[in-house]
Amino acid sequence: MTPKLHYTVPGMSDADAERVVELLQERLHAANDLHLTLKHVHWNVVGPHFISVHEMIDPQVDAVRGFADDLAERMATLGGSPQGTPGSIVAARTWDEYSIGRATTQEHLGALDLVYQGVITSYRDGIKVLGELDPVTEDMFIGQTEQLELFHWFIRAHLEDKGGRLSTEGAGSEQAAAAAAGQG
Ligand SMILES: [Fe+2]
Repeated sequence: MTPKLHYTVPGMSDADAERVVELLQERLHAANDLHLTLKHVHWNVVGPHFISVHEMIDPQVDAVRGFADDLAERMATLGGSPQGTPGSIVAARTWDEYSIGRATTQEHLGALDLVYQGVITSYRDGIKVLGELDPVTEDMFIGQTEQLELFHWFIRAHLEDKGGRLSTEGAGSEQAAAAAAGQG
């Protein structure tokens, strides 16, 4: 739970600030989970395309760690207290732990397609709400979403055939997406 704020930025009601802090906390958990998951993929990919995927992932880790820092510091700016411990992520998250261990680059990229779909959808849901509450935080969410959508394309470009069709099309789980991408 978000503790009650004792101050916030000028011109914003306490109730609005508390809601914005909650939205920031959700994105902070998502960003912390994502950069750890991306490192896990960086370490566990195997196969003939190892080096290109291994090296593609690290700039994404660095960017998403930067997003987490910006989200947490925005929370503090608004008078909130960012929760960044591993236990707090696990307790609060509404998604399942990343489910793929050592696997081929295509299998991991297939699973990451679904991971990015979930993260980006939640960012866009947050943007819709923030348009009314706080355009400053909305601007941060929009900037991060733009980068995440670019990274998602980097993933999808490995899953796409020359007709533009994704090997993961219609996959409803990481396991199904990994299996479909592994055959593609
Ligand atoms: Fe490394």
